[in-house]
Amino acid sequence: MSARLEAEHLFKVFGRKPDQAVERLRKGADREELRADGITAAVIDASFTVEPGEIFVVMGLSGSGKSTLLRMLNGLLEPTAGRVRFGGQDLTELGDRGLREVRSTKISMVFQHFALFPHRSVRENAAYGLEVQGVPRAERERRADEALALCGLAGWEKSWPDELSGGMQQRVGLARALATDADLLLMDESFSALDPLIRRDMQDQLLELQKTLKKTIVFITHDLNEAMRLGDRVAVMRDGRIVQLGTAQDILMRPANDYVASFTQDVDRSRVLTAGAVMDREVRGDEAGCDCETATPATPFVELCAISARVPHPVAVLDEGGELVGVVPRQRLVGFIGDEQAAPGTCDSTRRQGGGKVMAHA
Ligand SMILES: Nc1ncnc2c1ncn2[C@@H]1O[C@H](COP(=O)(O)OP(=O)(O)O)[C@@H](O)[C@H]1O
Ligand SMILES: [Mg+2]
Repeated sequence: MSARLEAEHLFKVFGRKPDQAVERLRKGADREELRADGITAAVIDASFTVEPGEIFVVMGLSGSGKSTLLRMLNGLLEPTAGRVRFGGQDLTELGDRGLREVRSTKISMVFQHFALFPHRSVRENAAYGLEVQGVPRAERERRADEALALCGLAGWEKSWPDELSGGMQQRVGLARALATDADLLLMDESFSALDPLIRRDMQDQLLELQKTLKKTIVFITHDLNEAMRLGDRVAVMRDGRIVQLGTAQDILMRPANDYVASFTQDVDRSRVLTAGAVMDREVRGDEAGCDCETATPATPFVELCAISARVPHPVAVLDEGGELVGVVPRQRLVGFIGDEQAAPGTCDSTRRQGGGKVMAHA
């Protein structure tokens, strides 16, 4: 059974007198001010909760503090201030020994460049975490094989790492993390080094695995498309701070500031948005008058476009009980994909939404 992860007002400051620096940050100082004094504020006041079974993505440019944040979550770095709780246990209060124990049994990490041992078989590599825990050979091989099978590597157990492609090696890394049966998976740019197609494949695989495993996952990436594809929720970091936390649709529809908005310009909206996000909630009542096709709030954007092309009037959006909850006029769809139109409705109508690249994939 997975558990809830809680980060409470986490700070990490590198440099002299970190506690004083935290005080200044709490009063609103930013990274640049501290940098002038030779202090790096890597993470500033990060708070969030990750529910069991959730994929929580932390997205931000290089240097924004993602890895530092992740290392505080598994106790590899001690926070300058703040707390981390996992399954109700306060990791920040554990000593070194307790932390090592938690790290080896409850938390697994998958890095960008997964270092496989070249002289160990794929099976031995996948079993490594269990070996560290002192699990007997027969059991650890059985569990390693199971994890490899989950990651699509059945039949490769006896191969050597150099016989595997980069994508397959990364799968071994994932299998190693899964083999220990840890509840919390921390993934730091785990797919960033892979070619786009293999990367997509790995994202699909992770989403598929998560349906049954329901781990608590924190996934770090600098790619907003990847973030939106994987994340139940996404935290956007900038200069050490979380500047927005929300679902992919929240971030697309209501970017917290121009910085976040600039990222969303490159996002493939058609893959993220659903009818519920784009519909007009002001229903006059005469839109759903015929037996035409309708949508639900969960209908994906691409499908919505197809329905819109087939019905002569705005598409009616019905909830589970068949109640009319919104309508989508055809112009509205164009507003989300065209170059010139501002996205209507739920967001600030004066703010231009980035567009233009969307239909390329639709
Ligand atoms: N051990 C350290 N000592 C000093 N500065 C560090 C240390 N680790 C990270 N930093 C600084 O903290 C900031 C955030 O780094 P990091 O968490 O690695 O960002 P990201 O993973 O988003 O690229 C950067 O400015 C980095 O140089
Ligand atoms: Mg990093």
